[in-house]
Amino acid sequence: MPLNPRLVKESFSVVEPVAGKAAGYFYGRLFTHCPQMRGMFPPGMEVQRDRLFNALTRIVWMLDSPKGLASYLAQLGRDHRKYGVSPEHYKVVGNALLATIRHFAAEIWTDEIEAAWTEAYAMAAKIMIDAADAETTPAWWLAEVIDHEPRTRDIAVLTLRPSQPMDFVPGQYVTVQTARWPRVWRRFSIANAPRADGTLRLHVRAVPGGWVSTALVRHTRIGDQLLLGPPVGTMTPPEPGRDVLCVAGGTGLAPLKAVIEHVIASGERPNIHLLFGARRACDLYDMPDLARMEAAFPWLRVVPTVSDDPAYDGMRGRLPDVVERFHSWADHEAYVCGPAAMVNETVRRLQMSGVPLARIHRDPIHSDAVPGDPSPGRMVHGGTVHGGTVHGGTVHGGAVNNDTLAHGGAVHDTLAPGDPVHGDHVHGDPVHGDPAHGDPVHGDPVHGDPVHGVPAHGDPVRGGTVRSEA
Ligand SMILES: Cc1cc2nc3c(=O)[nH]c(=O)nc-3n(C[C@H](O)[C@H](O)[C@H](O)COP(=O)(O)OP(=O)(O)OC[C@H]3O[C@@H](n4cnc5c(N)ncnc54)[C@H](O)[C@@H]3O)c2cc1C
Ligand code: HEM
Repeated sequence: MPLNPRLVKESFSVVEPVAGKAAGYFYGRLFTHCPQMRGMFPPGMEVQRDRLFNALTRIVWMLDSPKGLASYLAQLGRDHRKYGVSPEHYKVVGNALLATIRHFAAEIWTDEIEAAWTEAYAMAAKIMIDAADAETTPAWWLAEVIDHEPRTRDIAVLTLRPSQPMDFVPGQYVTVQTARWPRVWRRFSIANAPRADGTLRLHVRAVPGGWVSTALVRHTRIGDQLLLGPPVGTMTPPEPGRDVLCVAGGTGLAPLKAVIEHVIASGERPNIHLLFGARRACDLYDMPDLARMEAAFPWLRVVPTVSDDPAYDGMRGRLPDVVERFHSWADHEAYVCGPAAMVNETVRRLQMSGVPLARIHRDPIHSDAVPGDPSPGRMVHGGTVHGGTVHGGTVHGGAVNNDTLAHGGAVHDTLAPGDPVHGDHVHGDPVHGDPAHGDPVHGDPVHGDPVHGVPAHGDPVRGGTVRSEA
């Protein structure tokens, strides 16, 4: 039966306004029917709930553009290998999804709509499954932390050595899982172009109350192991021949530095301007290295800018304003990365000044934006909100234990050993602040703890063992 995007869209528009409820219903149903699947998801589910609906929305609206949709789904399918997803899981997820849409669109439901959804889901699942099957690279990489440099109070630069070679394109990001938070994956940009020794650098800022960023900045040591998902993202280097503008706010520097390293290594000689902004001078965490790059490559000009320190003896102001102080960037390839507000405003001003949108690099895959979320501190790589959505302090004592996600005690039955949700003392932690502090379970679970060490990274559904991707 052919796809019927119109029916899918019409019925989805009834569900969209109650997306939060629908997501709760979906996961409640999924985990009731298949409790062991709960163990594949992280303890806190808010991020995933939003991602699911963001993804669904995207898929539904892309049904009319099969090419773009296929490439999005194929990438999603390849990425899903790291969760231990197999083809049978798709059937269970599909049933829960159909039941959810049917429930929330009951007033308009017809056999035709049911058939349209069944067809659309089957198409999406097939693309994901086929792409996963066809992929020959590892589902995930084990990586050893070989260097950990605290650069500011909140920012650390980590150097990682993956156990197997990882091919990536400068500007891409990887998802990272720490032993401290099994099954919790967060995205971090690779801050270097590919190196002969295969090492990767990450620039990580610990966000207040952040699970993974705090673990990486404050509780990770040389010798620790991390898990990395496959590299993804389309914010890739420019075609040769055009000058380049990079506008980086905070750790938004990471992918731009990778792109700049790539341009330098390519032997091309374009003029590159890097505007690197922070609130205070002490937050310009990578200046010595940038100064070295500038000295070695005369076509690179690094302009540090500081927004909140009137005494700063250099370029002052917010990045979108600073961008406008230069000559026109209309002939440049532009890369913008940093907090959402900064990226949006910078892109807007660049467009107004004549840079075509096609030459302003944004990664359309990064679509964690939470509709209506006003959080100004979130990061956008190429127009997308970093950090997914708000845990809002509800994970502990909130979502996991009280809402539909925890049906049938699945949470406690299936989480990996050492999962923080197991500790009763964790429940009621009002803001899941820095989850590690003073928590006897979290103590410092990563280092030298055989339970929480590498095995915790394994596929929980398969009994907490580490799958060898070798
Ligand atoms: C494509 C992409 C690339 C990224 N690259 C980098 C990178 O190179 N370096 C880097 O440090 N981060 C990067 N991020 C952000 C990163 O993925 C995490 O979202 C961030 O580290 C927070 O994760 P967490 O688990 O510590 O916080 P969570 O536990 O998810 O969140 C805890 C609290 O912090 C808030 N929060 C989440 N993210 C942010 C944020 N960015 N700013 C302010 N508050 C936030 C949440 O709303 C919540 O209240 C990237 C994100 C994306 C989408
Ligand atoms: C058409 C089918 C599916 C779609 C469109 C879909 C979509 C998504 C999306 C968009 C994400 C977020 C990824 C990211 O942000 O990096 C995600 C995460 C995830 N998906 Fe799926 N998915 C599908 C099927 C499945 C199936 C069958 C499973 C099996 C259990 C599954 C399990 C997961 C898990 C465990 C995560 C990680 C959750 C987290 O980190 O919070 N998905 N999915």
